[in-house]
Amino acid sequence: MRNFVFLGPPGSGKGTQATRLSQKVGIRHLSTGDLLRNAVQEQTALGMQAKEYMEKGDLVPDQLLLGLLEESMNNGAMSKGTILDGFPRTVPQAESLRDMLNKNNMKVDAAVLLEVSDEEVIKRLSGRWFCTTCQRTYNYPMHAPKKEGICDDDGHELQRRRDDEEEVVRKRLHIYRERTAPIVDFYRAESILTTICGEQSPDKVFSDLLEVIQ
Ligand code: AP5
Repeated sequence: MRNFVFLGPPGSGKGTQATRLSQKVGIRHLSTGDLLRNAVQEQTALGMQAKEYMEKGDLVPDQLLLGLLEESMNNGAMSKGTILDGFPRTVPQAESLRDMLNKNNMKVDAAVLLEVSDEEVIKRLSGRWFCTTCQRTYNYPMHAPKKEGICDDDGHELQRRRDDEEEVVRKRLHIYRERTAPIVDFYRAESILTTICGEQSPDKVFSDLLEVIQ
């Protein structure tokens, strides 16, 4: 039973690597961004409130987020552990996670920081498109779909995330530095932090990650 936290600025590859690792080691992948986007799409009360924060690139307030996270953490697959992608994002969230895991005699086993420059983040997120149906992600120009704007897998239309507009990405980067970067020290103090260069190829990042995990 192991729990991993993936840290890094927007677009650093947390979701990409968490998905691969989840498939490789059979531990579930829990992304608070995905949970929130589902809530927005389903127009739940929480989703309606979260939407305005997300579209502006702000953090969703803890009182909205923590209940959703605890419910997902306690939902079934707790026994095998979790790869947390996008949570925690503030020191109070890191403390809440520690308390939540402690209650179940668990802890964060490793925190992995993917380091990527602001220029690379802006380049990646301005090229990111996703399928509205199967959620497959593409990136122009390196991983473009065969037919412009159409998913290779199911033929449905591709879209961009609203918060991937450059102005919003710059705000997300600012918030990352102000509010999320301090948790790097939180995990460093617990001696469980490892830093990986996120500007390498996805395969090289993944092999570095496997070394950390194993
Ligand atoms: P969230 O969805 O978590 O966004 P994020 O952390 O900003 O991360 P991204 O999904 O944009 O990027 P990523 O690091 O996962 O990179 P990816 O693998 O996709 O959160 C969205 C919003 O929800 C927040 O702004 C906030 O409002 C709210 N929220 C979420 N959690 C919250 C919390 N805990 N508290 C409060 N609010 C919260 O890769 C990006 C692109 O780069 C892709 O196109 C990919 O193909 C490409 N790529 C990946 N790796 C490489 C590589 N090595 N080389 C080249 N390209 C690569």
